[in-house]
Amino acid sequence: MGHLQITPSILNADFGKLADEVARIPGADWIHVDVMDNHFVPNLTFGPTMVEALARSTETPLDAHLMIDDADRNAPAYVEAGCGSVTFHVEAAKAPVRLAREIRAAGARASMALKPATPIEPYEDLLPELDMLLIMTVEPGFGGQRFLDLCLPKIRRARALMDKHGIETWLQVDGGVSLDTIERCAEAGADVFVAGSAVFSADDPDAMVAALRAKAEE
Ligand code: DX5
Ligand code: ZN
Repeated sequence: MGHLQITPSILNADFGKLADEVARIPGADWIHVDVMDNHFVPNLTFGPTMVEALARSTETPLDAHLMIDDADRNAPAYVEAGCGSVTFHVEAAKAPVRLAREIRAAGARASMALKPATPIEPYEDLLPELDMLLIMTVEPGFGGQRFLDLCLPKIRRARALMDKHGIETWLQVDGGVSLDTIERCAEAGADVFVAGSAVFSADDPDAMVAALRAKAEE
């Protein structure tokens, strides 16, 4: 497996000083930005204008996780805002193949997310169109939720499908990832780890990023 990556989510950071919060985690590979529209999920965060301002304030690439309806129409704005990776939910996309191709053509990594109850099997043939697959390990909407172990078999099955196709799609997990759960995810085949509350509730967020990386590599 390739290099493991740690992607802190700013959802539980202080929104009043996001640039400072991001500066506290220089060891992060990506910054995960959770975009919520109060329709696809029952929570509301920020849109492309704020993401664009954050992109200008850091050298670390942004990993947008769009928890929004009508992904087909709304996702391209996040490539334009400067995100290096854009993840849409398959449950919110009418034409996921076309959308993934559009994101790639616009110059970002294309990624698709699955909620805990969404199976991977119907999307097997779509995997080569993706740079990353996100398997949610909580129901999307809020930080600080408990990790759902029931998602681990799907991570394993997704990794097996990628191996079968001989592709190196990154496999991201998001939700409840901590020092207690990250090894299980890595063992199942994940290689990109989102961690929100684990990082931003730590006294030293950058040391937590390093500790998570060490645990995942064990
Ligand atoms: C939840 C978001 C996550 C969230 C993770 O819907 O997609 O990225 O910030 O937070 P933790 O790590 O606290 O579960
Ligand atoms: Zn997320």
